[in-house]
Amino acid sequence: VKPIAVAKPASIPFVDLGAQRRRLGQKLDAAIARVLAHGAFILGPEVAELEQKLAHYAGVRHCVSCSSGTDALALVLMAKGIGRNDAVFVPAFTFVAPAEVVAWLGATPVFVDVSAATCTMNGASLEAAIEGAKAKGLRPAAVIPVDLFGQPADYRAIAPVAERHGLFVLADAAQSFGASLDGRPVGQWAHATATSFYPSKPLGCYGDGGAVLTDDRALAEALLSLRMHGQRIDKLGAHQYDNVRVGMNGRFDTLQAAILIEKLAIFPDEIAARQRIAERYSRLLSDRVETPALLKGATSVWAQYTIKSEHRDAIKAACAEQSVPTAVHYPLPLSGQAAYRHYPTAPGGVPAAERLASNVLSLPIHPYLDEATQDRIVAAVRGALG
Ligand SMILES: Cc1ncc(COP(=O)(O)O)c(C=O)c1O
Repeated sequence: VKPIAVAKPASIPFVDLGAQRRRLGQKLDAAIARVLAHGAFILGPEVAELEQKLAHYAGVRHCVSCSSGTDALALVLMAKGIGRNDAVFVPAFTFVAPAEVVAWLGATPVFVDVSAATCTMNGASLEAAIEGAKAKGLRPAAVIPVDLFGQPADYRAIAPVAERHGLFVLADAAQSFGASLDGRPVGQWAHATATSFYPSKPLGCYGDGGAVLTDDRALAEALLSLRMHGQRIDKLGAHQYDNVRVGMNGRFDTLQAAILIEKLAIFPDEIAARQRIAERYSRLLSDRVETPALLKGATSVWAQYTIKSEHRDAIKAACAEQSVPTAVHYPLPLSGQAAYRHYPTAPGGVPAAERLASNVLSLPIHPYLDEATQDRIVAAVRGALG
């Protein structure tokens, strides 16, 4: 007897960039055509226009765009002269970039535990990590509180610790640009804020890109120079082949800036849609799994909708069976990874990061996720839990 083939349901995109592309339609084509016509592909007029719009959006004085979110972090650390013997405090539970850039510069990433509820850096663990770094003869230099899954880190707890110990605060807002804390936008909570325009980020372009936001004029000027191989830049402009710093090619493409200007115009509406979808997920799931917790006074741009459950692996498998994609952000704390496990960890270790790594699961979220599709995702999650 031949087995009867059971068709699997059609797969759901984790992030549906096509739906956004259809919405922007002709506007995006026209923006790209304008750049092709003027031909200023490197640092053309759209780059400056976008930087001005992003600075205005976040309510800061300066925005310097650059080649990626990773480079945005690196450029700031380079501008601050971070290097050998400097300790830079990074959460153990995050994407690798904030630790990676510290290691590039010969400085020491020190891994800090996170809070179990919000998954972002824990102020008490930071305090302990600073003392631990000092005991090892390192100079506590900077902290990179990472804004995870769309909400800001707990700057109200971290800023006073940083201030007490003279740490430079570099916010990693790759996942949170557009969010706020106590009514103040991301961009205003640190000495400098780095963000990413990776395509799947809430504000993403069609390639790699990033930016730094700051009120510090001297820092912004150094960043402009560093992203252009450390060129001398003065009132007359950039002086090619006159290098006053060791920099990099860290520029953002004009084409990508033109694309992002169009996407920024619909960004507030997209954030509102993400918020509606996240609230609906929480309503439909909170009796069976731990749904995301926001800090009091925080908003999120829902870069991820990440649930927690001790049955994570079973839920993941059941979703895959129903062609519902999921992702584990992140399966292993940085402090346990091969390339990083020789760096110091906060005294007391990172138990919350370790627990999260075994129970988090991100569900599909994007502004164009319709209710019927969301219901299918919810059914797959609930189905796994019997
Ligand atoms: C928290 C965090 N930091 C930094 C980055 C790096 O950004 P990019 O991929 O643009 O280099 C990402 C995303 O990829 C991220 O999620």
